[in-house]
Amino acid sequence: MDKILITGAGGFIGSHLAKRLYEEDYEVKAVDIKWDGYLPEPYYTEKLTLDLRSRENCRIALKDVDQVFHLAANMGGIGFITEVGAEIMHDNVIMNANMLQESVESKIGRFFFSSSACIYPTYRQVDTENPGLKEEDAYPADPDDFYGWEKLYTEKMCEAYQRDHNLEVRVARFHNIYGPHGTYDGGREKSPAALCRKIAQASNPGNIEIWGDGQQTRSYCYIDDGVEGILRLMKSDFQEPLNIGSDRLVTIEELADMIIKISGKTIEKQHLLSAPQGVRGRNADLTLLKKTLKWEPQISLEEGLTRTYRWIEEKF
Ligand SMILES: NC(=O)c1ccc[n+]([C@@H]2O[C@H](COP(=O)([O-])OP(=O)(O)OC[C@H]3O[C@@H](n4cnc5c(N)ncnc54)[C@H](O)[C@@H]3O)[C@@H](O)[C@H]2O)c1
Repeated sequence: MDKILITGAGGFIGSHLAKRLYEEDYEVKAVDIKWDGYLPEPYYTEKLTLDLRSRENCRIALKDVDQVFHLAANMGGIGFITEVGAEIMHDNVIMNANMLQESVESKIGRFFFSSSACIYPTYRQVDTENPGLKEEDAYPADPDDFYGWEKLYTEKMCEAYQRDHNLEVRVARFHNIYGPHGTYDGGREKSPAALCRKIAQASNPGNIEIWGDGQQTRSYCYIDDGVEGILRLMKSDFQEPLNIGSDRLVTIEELADMIIKISGKTIEKQHLLSAPQGVRGRNADLTLLKKTLKWEPQISLEEGLTRTYRWIEEKF
């Protein structure tokens, strides 16, 4: 069996992916700069604490590895990516460039890169009724934030390494992957985890704050589906960026109402209009995903949110 490197394995998606592969008896080398410890260990055969901004550390991580899932990134939810620009671009571009170059030198068989729905242009996301972003909609480029530009640049870098060095690259554009064992506080959490935390912490009856007017729309994909999509894409012959997400569009208000219902609490919502809310409407078009991977996400938003809320609720 191939030996697999997962970078960012201390983080949300990386830890779930590592666990799945570890349970399938792969040799899993898990690398991260820090370990959140949200997912019970062990979920790897080897664990290395490395800062992948260092090229030497990338070489150490890649030693004796056949395939790479590169998920490490300096990132966070809308609050973090709205506020932080230079650090995100600097850290991630350096890390991605080093990982790609060292992967060629280490003769890696296949390289997975985790891109984002944030690469899609702002002008296609001004309406709450977003019909779904198709992969081809990425250009002409105009991502909403620096994080999106950095991801788009790395997509292009992956394309260049594929062309010039025959590095087999697979690129997923994740659309809001959520679930248990992920960041839920500290400023880097994303909307489902942030709302679960606020509702879990609220008294009953109580109230919570919602960022924006609550009418902004998004789609959300449960982590187990996200992992399944990553593995199917990695095994496929598809060499271009592919959406991995859900095409069920909900407003943030609806998302909050679903979690409130799961909690069984009586909660009033207050809107913080000055808070960052990102683009007005974002949805995934899954036509290419279904055609390419012969599959689509299976877990309903209600089911996924219930599992997520129950995990976050236990923290308080
Ligand atoms: N979760 C989502 O909805 C989503 C959406 C779009 C894209 N992505 C991308 O998927 C990947 C995984 O996201 P996640 O939600 O698991 O995020 P995460 O923050 O939970 O995991 C990222 C991990 O990368 C690690 N990391 C950061 N800098 C590092 C460095 N210099 N060296 C080594 N490790 C470093 C972090 O410590 C963290 O554990 C990221 O590339 C992210 O940009 C995620």
